[in-house]
Amino acid sequence: MFPADALHALLRHTAAHHRRETIAFGRRLNAVMERLFLTAIWRNFVKGRSERRPDPTTPAMRLELATERWSWRRVLARRLFPKREILPPGWRDLYRRRWITPTLPSNTRHRRHLPPLPRPPRNCALLPQQAAHHHGPPIILPEGSPMPRKHEPPYVVRPSTAVLTRGFDPRLSLGSARPAVFRSSTYVFTTPESAQRAFEIALGKATPEPGENVELIYARLNHPNAEILEDQIVPLEKGAAAAAVFNSGMAAISTVFLSTCGPGESFLFTTPVYGGTHHLIHTLLEPLGFRPIPVPAGDGAALERAIMGAKDLRLVFLETPANPTLTMTDIRRAVEAARGAPQGPLVAVDNTFLGPAFQHPLELGADLVIYSATKYLAGFSDMLAGVVLARDADLVANLRGTRAILGNILQPDECWLLNSRLPTVTLRMNRQSKNAQRIAEALNGHPALRRVLYPSLLADPDQIRIRDAQCDFPGGIITLDVSGGRVAAFSFLKNLRIARDAVSLGGVETLACHPRTTTHSELDEATLDAAGISDSLVRISVGIEDWRDILRDLREALDGIRIPPGPGSHPV
Ligand SMILES: Cc1ncc(COP(=O)(O)O)c(C=O)c1O
Repeated sequence: MFPADALHALLRHTAAHHRRETIAFGRRLNAVMERLFLTAIWRNFVKGRSERRPDPTTPAMRLELATERWSWRRVLARRLFPKREILPPGWRDLYRRRWITPTLPSNTRHRRHLPPLPRPPRNCALLPQQAAHHHGPPIILPEGSPMPRKHEPPYVVRPSTAVLTRGFDPRLSLGSARPAVFRSSTYVFTTPESAQRAFEIALGKATPEPGENVELIYARLNHPNAEILEDQIVPLEKGAAAAAVFNSGMAAISTVFLSTCGPGESFLFTTPVYGGTHHLIHTLLEPLGFRPIPVPAGDGAALERAIMGAKDLRLVFLETPANPTLTMTDIRRAVEAARGAPQGPLVAVDNTFLGPAFQHPLELGADLVIYSATKYLAGFSDMLAGVVLARDADLVANLRGTRAILGNILQPDECWLLNSRLPTVTLRMNRQSKNAQRIAEALNGHPALRRVLYPSLLADPDQIRIRDAQCDFPGGIITLDVSGGRVAAFSFLKNLRIARDAVSLGGVETLACHPRTTTHSELDEATLDAAGISDSLVRISVGIEDWRDILRDLREALDGIRIPPGPGSHPV
């Protein structure tokens, strides 16, 4: 029996006077009870609905931003005044990104607090920056077509527009929508005088007049496709004034070391660094008399001490996040320490892992930003390239000088290819970072893993502080620390079906590798151990596939790890 009927009988029996217990009274009481019954149903209905939707564990409740599941106030505010939602203060964070980078002072304001930038420390300015040749002869324009205006008023557009519109004039490529590829190794001078002038300027004996059209000489020094690419890449890097392109990331890194530092002078670098950089430092630069000073990545105090204590310090080279441990080094702290050092060393950041979308070292005061453009900038694992960008165009001119002698300029075809990849860098990186964050957070706590190294899963408060200060998003690289050492890591790699076992990163496809035996095998055992690059680490570069497929692949590969009994099967 429905409880209301029992209640009815009870009320009727107790409340009614025995002489008033008429049929009419009974009917009225019935009507009242029916109304009560309907109200109860309605309440239950409403209550029931509210219990199911929204989900009792709403994102806000999970983030402890709200205590109640819903309220009429909130519902009405959203339905009636969608543009003026009344949200509890914490709710606003739901609509923002997961962490917020504090606003930094603009470049110019920031520079006012710092001593003036040091001049390039060594005299290696063989070739000053050349004029933009694709804005003039030797290309013959169709008769009557207007020459591009040289001094157009600045028309400011945002980076994603600038990267598509800067640096290339279709009229100078016979109207083609994409730049022509200028593969010539040498360029024809209009007169012997213009050849002489071009060489004087190239060797730094003369400076070009404003608007002067300096003729091209030879493709090892410069060529139109490099100029177009360099112009187009600048807006992607916040705070950059100029760029130089190289034929690999290592070519860019070597040129930075050779241009800023010399034998007998010292430079500082964070460990771990990419294996190739480590090889360059210890096998090439050290025997030549350069004095490298290693500092553990993420140790700000050690970095400051090393900067203050170093003799003839010319360069502070940071790789952050470090490859493959993702340890973060405080760029601003390094810059401030370098500004206070007597020799005013330059600060260069290898920004390959997070830039140009998520980390902006030039805005934090760094002098040079270096990329292995082979990775995210090119994005399809089909070419090699390197880029260096700076706030000070003279620094870039210096690098171009060294580049002309080393002959490591990016070739015209590769410039053209990289050029076509630039407009999508931010789109690709955003997707890769979102995918990686979902996967890393879903894999965290998997029984086959000891740890997941990923910027959104940091536990160390100092690392969290650095991350919040300098990274917009966590990026597309995850490092898994697999239980069971090298054998387990290799078993995991063999089990993968979508992700491929390959070095390199930043491509649209997911790649996985074992850094200790591949990318970082150059480092000796002691350095590997000190840097935390253990046998159980596997680095994953997450691509743009559907994240659920990659997650499934990684999960199944982890579940399928088999450790045969025998030597090497113990966890390392
Ligand atoms: C962080 C970092 N810097 C530099 C490089 C070298 O770049 P490239 O292979 O284009 O010479 C790599 C390559 O993996 C890297 O991971």
